[in-house]
Amino acid sequence: MKVAVLGYGTVGFGVYEMLKQAEGLEAGPVLVRPGKDDEPFKVSSIEQITEDASVDVVAEVMGGVEPAFSYACAALKAGKHFVTSNKALVAAKGPELAKLAKDKQVGFLFSAACGGGVPFLHNLSLAVQSDEILSVGGILNGTTNYMLDQMQSTGMSYADALSDAQKLGYAEADPTADVTGLDALRKIMLACAVAFNVLPVDGLLHEGIDSFSAADSSYIQSKGLTCRLIASGGKAENGSIYAFVEPVLFERDAAECSVLKNFNMAKYNGKNSGRIVMIGQGAGRWPTASAVLRDCSDISCGRRFMMKPSCEAGSADNACCAHRYLVRIPAGIAFPLPVEACEEADGVSYCRTGEVSVSAMHEAVNKLRADGNSVFFAAIGE
Ligand code: HSE
Repeated sequence: MKVAVLGYGTVGFGVYEMLKQAEGLEAGPVLVRPGKDDEPFKVSSIEQITEDASVDVVAEVMGGVEPAFSYACAALKAGKHFVTSNKALVAAKGPELAKLAKDKQVGFLFSAACGGGVPFLHNLSLAVQSDEILSVGGILNGTTNYMLDQMQSTGMSYADALSDAQKLGYAEADPTADVTGLDALRKIMLACAVAFNVLPVDGLLHEGIDSFSAADSSYIQSKGLTCRLIASGGKAENGSIYAFVEPVLFERDAAECSVLKNFNMAKYNGKNSGRIVMIGQGAGRWPTASAVLRDCSDISCGRRFMMKPSCEAGSADNACCAHRYLVRIPAGIAFPLPVEACEEADGVSYCRTGEVSVSAMHEAVNKLRADGNSVFFAAIGE
């Protein structure tokens, strides 16, 4: 199968190089920006790909919703299978693309959009065929895992850790989505769509690591805890879907603490399978390119869908999940939710809350921040 590639950045270069050596796959034209088509395999208009009858699969690795969405529609309408690593695109337009792919009787796979090289969505989409999935989630952002690992294991500053993650090709072009938890949120949206046939688009909550300071790192480590950014999704007992991202503090012997550098730990809990855990590199050129090629190979083996064409957008309800939190607020401020204990250090208070709902916690912190207060919070892991 001949695979055309849209984008020739960190991942696009990796995909093209891997295609040249892959068994059963062939490297086709690569779409680059006008004026950058300085080699014979590069083209600068999407029509040169959609009108090329020898192209079977279009692999999009550009990122962003537009022009990726227009190109995806053009490729599917031209009868090409469509594979993407673009979580922003699938989170915004996934159901539409799945329906269009079904109409055109071609495939639409996006394993590389969640978990980097980890075959999470690949396995999850197989598991849903024979088991009921109860929950999905884990460490789904390589940039923030790398940063948290460096900050906590070497004492590196937040700015240096982010700069390193960018140099290593883990971060998005604009790393805001990584550090605020939005990138991990998009990934849990995709996992929910695959697992529950509902793409949650409203009621989602995300807290990243952009408030996590070196002082917070020292404090939690003095308590024997380690911070990881965790995405959580699932079906509550009342049938509603929950989906949120927040930092979580774990005892040092927890499995999450052994996930280092740019690695991800993606999990699902099946009613019959029980917990399934997958660990591997969640970001970077070669791991992500390997997932794109895995999807291309899946297409050549006859697989067509990860998100079912019947998947619809829906809402998340994060009032149905509750846990305890550690919250850092300025000293002298009262935290507006039930607090079990507070400790003051260097002008700030670290308070442990009782069990509070995820939605109540995020709302309380948003109000404090709107009043100009600096706040960090993290759930206390089980
Ligand atoms: N910026 C993303 C991450 C890339 O760090 O996980 C892989 O999706």
